[in-house]
Amino acid sequence: MDLQTAALDATRQRLANHNFTAQLFPLDHAGFEDFFRERPVPTIDAAIFNLGYLPGGDHSIVTAPDSTLAALDAIFRRASQRFRLGIVAYRGHPGGQEETQQVTDYLKRLPRHRYALTTFSGRNTETGPIFLGISSLLEPSTRPT
Ligand SMILES: C[S@@+](CC[C@H](N)C(=O)[O-])C[C@H]1O[C@@H](n2cnc3c(N)ncnc32)[C@H](O)[C@@H]1O
Repeated sequence: MDLQTAALDATRQRLANHNFTAQLFPLDHAGFEDFFRERPVPTIDAAIFNLGYLPGGDHSIVTAPDSTLAALDAIFRRASQRFRLGIVAYRGHPGGQEETQQVTDYLKRLPRHRYALTTFSGRNTETGPIFLGISSLLEPSTRPT
């Protein structure tokens, strides 16, 4: 799901290069709740977010905390027992630090008996991108020993 056709076209091409197909939607992720009400799914096993703006595209079309957190709410309401989430958040553009902080705080508030949070910051700078990963602890193989 992306607001920009250019991003969806690039995704479609990359998937095709690896012989994958997928349904792609030109929609605002703030509308995930309505999206899933219209297309009910029993549960969601995995979700990936690549936040920020499209490199080489319109930098004013950028993810923002309210819509990103609304999308996460809709997904976590349907998370399966083996749920995985990966988010790449960017901190170098205006609003990026705030969005990263709010998303990190949201993930830290998830119940600890249910989810483990992993963060990874490759460049290890205050403004570099950060990976936020969530694994469900309900799946037996992911339980700490
Ligand atoms: C870093 S780019 C990722 C592009 C592509 N999804 C990928 O992973 O290669 C961030 C994308 O978020 C999209 N975006 C910004 N606000 C959005 C929103 N509210 N809902 C859906 N997509 C949004 C932008 O159009 C931009 O393409």
